[in-house]
Amino acid sequence: MTADRTDVAEFACELITRRQQTSPKRLTAPGPTPTQVEMLWKAAAQAPDHGLILPWRFVQVSDGGRGALGEAFVQALCERDPQASAEQRAEARDKAARAPFLALAIARLGGDDHPEIPATQRLASLGCALQNMLLMAHAQGFGAGLVSGQALDSTALRTLFGLASEERAVCFVAVGTVARPKPMRLRPTARDFVTQL
Ligand SMILES: Cc1cc2nc3c(=O)[nH]c(=O)nc-3n(C[C@H](O)[C@H](O)[C@H](O)COP(=O)(O)O)c2cc1C
Repeated sequence: MTADRTDVAEFACELITRRQQTSPKRLTAPGPTPTQVEMLWKAAAQAPDHGLILPWRFVQVSDGGRGALGEAFVQALCERDPQASAEQRAEARDKAARAPFLALAIARLGGDDHPEIPATQRLASLGCALQNMLLMAHAQGFGAGLVSGQALDSTALRTLFGLASEERAVCFVAVGTVARPKPMRLRPTARDFVTQL
């Protein structure tokens, strides 16, 4: 039993330490199969959730939805910069085509009948769900990453994804096959972030 636990701990440690950000532009086909996507959602569902209020949701962007997402990125750009060039608009549109699996992570920061659970705890829960998904994607042999940007708060994107006033789009999670691996980054050590009371 002890040996088994050691194996599990070593596996978990290896999985966690091997995870790294891969930007969507480095993620190509094949992406996760429908069964593997179900495992990603199952991993998300394991997130801690104070009060069991499920303060987040995801919207998976299907192949058919990529065009509308691209248009929303263009509109978001034009909301910020009406003078955006054709090249900048094309670049914004192209972002919607990246990564075989793409889903928007949405946090519900309030507005329901659980005022005792503050926005900080709701975001923490979503962060755990995201990390679980990233780790599962790595366990499946894929690369994965999170991507955000100013478009997330745009009217165009909020409208496309049907966000309620109390909801906030936090980031996209992207999963796929790593086209060009990159070196691992240096990690902080416990000394960098732990003090004693
Ligand atoms: C909520 C959230 C949003 C993020 N948005 C972006 C982004 O827009 N672009 C990007 O390159 N990375 C984004 N990242 C990923 C970080 O850049 C990445 O985690 C960081 O570079 C550290 O790399 P690591 O994940 O390999 O440790 C985001 C991460 C989080 C938690």
